[in-house]
Amino acid sequence: MVAMSKIATGNGHGENSPYFDGWKAYETNPFHPTERPEGVIQMGLAENQLCFNLIKNWLIKHPEASLCTPQGVNKFKETALFQDYHGMPEFRQAVAKFMGKVRGDRVKFDPDRIVMSGGATGAHEMVAFCLADPGEAFLVPTPYYPGFDRDLKWRTGVELVPVNCESYNNFKITRNALEAAYVKAQEANLRVKGLLITNPSNPLGTILDRDTLKSMVRFINDKNIHLIGDEIYAATVFMEPEFVSISEIIEEEDVECNRDLIHIVYSLSKDMGFPGFRVGIVYSYNDSVVSCARKMSSFGLVSSQTQHLIASMLSDGEFVDNFITENKELLFKRHKYFTWSLSQVGIGCLKGNSGLFIWMDLRKLLKEKTFAAEMELWRVIINEVKLNVSPGSSFHCEEPGWFRVCFANMDDHTMKVALLRIRTFVFKNNEAMVPLKLCRPSSLKLSLSRSLSRRMESPGIMSPHSPLPQSPLVRART
Ligand SMILES: Cc1ncc(COP(=O)(O)O)c(C=O)c1O
Repeated sequence: MVAMSKIATGNGHGENSPYFDGWKAYETNPFHPTERPEGVIQMGLAENQLCFNLIKNWLIKHPEASLCTPQGVNKFKETALFQDYHGMPEFRQAVAKFMGKVRGDRVKFDPDRIVMSGGATGAHEMVAFCLADPGEAFLVPTPYYPGFDRDLKWRTGVELVPVNCESYNNFKITRNALEAAYVKAQEANLRVKGLLITNPSNPLGTILDRDTLKSMVRFINDKNIHLIGDEIYAATVFMEPEFVSISEIIEEEDVECNRDLIHIVYSLSKDMGFPGFRVGIVYSYNDSVVSCARKMSSFGLVSSQTQHLIASMLSDGEFVDNFITENKELLFKRHKYFTWSLSQVGIGCLKGNSGLFIWMDLRKLLKEKTFAAEMELWRVIINEVKLNVSPGSSFHCEEPGWFRVCFANMDDHTMKVALLRIRTFVFKNNEAMVPLKLCRPSSLKLSLSRSLSRRMESPGIMSPHSPLPQSPLVRART
């Protein structure tokens, strides 16, 4: 075999984790309402599809924002030739304004500090390259987004040290937990260069409160290490309490902070539902980081066509205001329906108010309190219930039995099929978990089609794989 680099031949990408295995299971047999009604439903993808009508309506009204329309083609040549790594001024202005709006206009962002990257994925790597050398470390509270193990570590050689957070206090990040992780890193001869937080949290769907944020700012200042705040779910906070950004905390009078230590990672992948556009942002309060990151951004610029479209869309103040409100409303309704339906079959989840997922508590369904038992349950869920949910262990959760379930990447029908499968599974497998009256089909009114409701009310409980009602079109064909 021809020799290749350690990066190329190593396993730094982390593709072997169950988080990615679930995706593979989905890809080999994806659910389709008529063609593969028994296929796997993708609930492992934190995608926001609920807001697409809002975007579509704006696009229809603004054909000039697309370059491949008669109304937009005049800008085609100029945009296609653009390649400045500072980004288009109108793009940076629009993004800075949007970031402020998402934070209730309580803080302002300077367009000159906006640095582009290929999604938040690229932004994290860029920040890691700017702040740490190979072998140095960042502290990361658990549970955390599995992609961090790839984005921050793989090509940079940086290490991540978990800050253990637990369910007894709703996974709160305490000063004690931070100190313990810091000591652990030192014992392992790792020099800690920063703390990486995700607010709102993926996978918890919760936000950090003001006091916790202040305590973290004090911690990083005491240790003279950096704070990276991943705020890519900032606009998904659909319920009280209100989101507080790290950018607000550093402005508070009672918090002493060296701003050179503060960096925000942002993207439009979640807040606007554009993961395909790869619009990532590094916003640093440190001039040297801005300058270095800007040079590095040549490796992952946002295409000028995308910059042009985003600049046009986000400069429309009326659209932005309406989008932010409506998007939250759509997420709120979906979240409420989803969590209520789960509660009807005795499944609880961590109380959340943000994100595109819930943190589902299946501890009662484990045969024993081990990660092996969690994996066993996960295999049943993926192979028999045919839902791709993500096990807590893939998020470095300390406690077995938690699963992340995404709820915004599917239409209403698919969601109802998923809920039915969960309900049937719980009923079949663990009557002890669900009070009997809740198990009765009538207790879960999912406003399904009449024929399906009738089937649910028949004495035989529906199997997760029972055929679902098909469209008249398919019935006519078969
Ligand atoms: C917390 C967090 N950070 C970063 C990313 C990567 O986002 P992007 O698609 O913008 O690269 C994700 C994606 O799921 C995420 O959840």
